[in-house]
Amino acid sequence: MCCKIENSGQNTYSETRKDPKKNNIIMSEKKKVSVIGGGTMGNGIAQLFALHEYQVHVVETNQELADHAFEAIEINLDRMVQKEKIDNKKKKETLQCIHLFQAAEDAVKGSELIIEAVPEEFEIKKQVFSDLDEHAPEDAILATNTSSISITKLAAVTSRPNRFIGMHFFNPVPVMKLVEVVSGLQTDPEVVHRIQQTAKELGKVPVPVKDSPGFVSNRVLMPMINEAIFCVYEGAATPENVDEIMKLGMGHPMGPLRLADFIGLDVCLDILNVLYESFRDSKYRPCPLLVQMVDAGNLGDKTGSGFYKY
Ligand code: CAA
Repeated sequence: MCCKIENSGQNTYSETRKDPKKNNIIMSEKKKVSVIGGGTMGNGIAQLFALHEYQVHVVETNQELADHAFEAIEINLDRMVQKEKIDNKKKKETLQCIHLFQAAEDAVKGSELIIEAVPEEFEIKKQVFSDLDEHAPEDAILATNTSSISITKLAAVTSRPNRFIGMHFFNPVPVMKLVEVVSGLQTDPEVVHRIQQTAKELGKVPVPVKDSPGFVSNRVLMPMINEAIFCVYEGAATPENVDEIMKLGMGHPMGPLRLADFIGLDVCLDILNVLYESFRDSKYRPCPLLVQMVDAGNLGDKTGSGFYKY
């Protein structure tokens, strides 16, 4: 199944929504969120909200990426059906809550919460938030799923830094319980409270932290991954053996190198660079092997090759 991007509110699902016999659940007033970016994190976040009966407006830049986001959600819902966590009716209702848009301007009308999940580059996010600031409802909360970029710096791009917050989900979003709730220097405590409540409504566990480089999750995780890469770089052990040690000895579900591939080696490098540049402490310097692998385009799962082949 594919879903056409909504430019003027007209698509397969808009038509379905008009037929109460086909779908009465959509007829009631629903909470609306927008998710900017339909990549791995964006489509996971969209799926999560849709499963909890929010109307979700997903913004992708072209039809191909939009189709990809929609298909990823469908595959994940199929997995849930196979595992008997949801039935086919729930799958259908969930997909009907997903609406694809090309322009954020059209998507954000009436959204109470807008979550940005675009690539991890300040300039790209800056552009997105300038646009959102202009078009989002005045009382909407602007949230970012950034893994490491300063919330305070991103908030400063907008005219509403008090309504700006980090809502950091973890991959795979439908599975991982944590939402790291990151308040910037000017985030209103009421906004922190509302995001924590929303995370709980979604079945997640919100943990509040203050804005600081890498927040807590990646400040702790990335040095461990980097050190694992140094072990391989210096010939102390193979990737398989490093991972075996951390899985069997430390009880990690994935070894750090398998996890690095899963996250994306480019993302790991970006986060380490943020930590290194922010703290100016050599303990965060990225391992040269990580830099080389990113230069070579071996980014992990998404390119079919990283520390492992996929
Ligand atoms: N979407 C939805 N569900 C998924 C999924 C996906 N992509 N991948 C796995 N699952 C579900 C499975 O359906 C299964 O559900 P049940 O237990 O209910 O049957 C469960 O997750 C376990 O999956 P599997 O049995 O297939 O495989 P597994 O036991 O090896 O678990 C894993 C897979 C959940 C990914 C596990 O290996 C794990 O927890 N790994 C660590 C993941 C992690 O650390 N994520 C955080 C990365 S950091 C980040 O995201 C933020 C950042 O800023 C970089």
